[in-house]
Amino acid sequence: MSILVTGGAGYIGSHTCVELLTEGYDVIIVDNFSNSGPDTVNRIEEITSKKVKTYDINLLDSSRLETVFAENNIEAVIHFAGLKAVGESVEKPLHYYETNIGSTIQLCKTMEKYGVYKLVFSSSATVYGLPEQVPIEENAPLKAVNPYGNTKIIIEDMLRDLATSNNNWRISLLRYFNPIGAHKSGLIGEEPSGIPNNLMPYITQVAAGVREQLSVFGDDYPTKDGTCIRDYIHVVDLALGHLQALKKIETYTGVQAYNLGTGTGYSVLEVVDAFEKATGITIPKKIGPRRPGDAPVSYADPTKARTELQWEAKRTLIEMCEDSWRWQVHRKAQLESK
Ligand code: WQD
Repeated sequence: MSILVTGGAGYIGSHTCVELLTEGYDVIIVDNFSNSGPDTVNRIEEITSKKVKTYDINLLDSSRLETVFAENNIEAVIHFAGLKAVGESVEKPLHYYETNIGSTIQLCKTMEKYGVYKLVFSSSATVYGLPEQVPIEENAPLKAVNPYGNTKIIIEDMLRDLATSNNNWRISLLRYFNPIGAHKSGLIGEEPSGIPNNLMPYITQVAAGVREQLSVFGDDYPTKDGTCIRDYIHVVDLALGHLQALKKIETYTGVQAYNLGTGTGYSVLEVVDAFEKATGITIPKKIGPRRPGDAPVSYADPTKARTELQWEAKRTLIEMCEDSWRWQVHRKAQLESK
């Protein structure tokens, strides 16, 4: 029996594949490599010394997606594949709705056709929009503040309706807070194309001299140092949360949502300070204007995941910074050696 991982060559997908393989699962990756490269799969195999069957497929291509199910004995699916750039979703909403929702519809239709009813879905804390209170619990109101977040809310609602229509479905919605860090090997990590939108990859590129300085998006928020607070979680902790969700899914039918966060918030300046302490590198920075849509404070109440998934994040902010930097150094050296 195999676990099908859509988007398995991506940042969180690749780290989850490593942990699945290490745990002894057989893994199949479906990825269209729009946001990653096939060599990521080679590096997953190098880390684990396991082979991974891979299909270069767009999930919207229903006939090619069907071959994956026809050729393999799939037990469950972890669905990462999708577009996730907030700013781009504002510019190209139809592309985001068609891709994220359309591909999930195709996936679920094919799963039903082949009697595969166990699904772990990659959701996001962005479904909470601008949270009314923190820490955020799973029953907090959902409110999209951008098309990307709205695709996640719509897909969550769609999956609830699906489970209501057919009680064979066992679905876990994992709401990620702010994944950063990388596998200790330095072989896999976050590799945004173009100018990084997110804080940590921007910091590592400043540290590597790829970017001149960090622009801190506002220091006049109602927080301890005026900069926004987020729940940064090590991507390996996040990956391990998926393994626990997969095990938990055997115990219920229907849909359960879980916050995957540490429960601790850090400000932008605290992250910069931690990175400087972890690496000994000073990060040049300037205070810039606020970024529209940023919530002042967002961090998880991870109690439900801790009690129901027997999971909690263990890696520290310093480790997240050390591991992010190691990946940046290894990857730059690897690309320069080509
Ligand atoms: C974190 C903090 C910025 C860059 C996003 C998506 C969310 C999820 C995780 C997919 C904020 C500040 C950032 C910079 C800065 N992705 N910042 N200078 O916005 O919390 O969440 O990634 O699911 O959907 O919205 O993360 O890393 O972009 O920003 O000051 O150059 O760092 O203002 O306060 P965010 P982020």
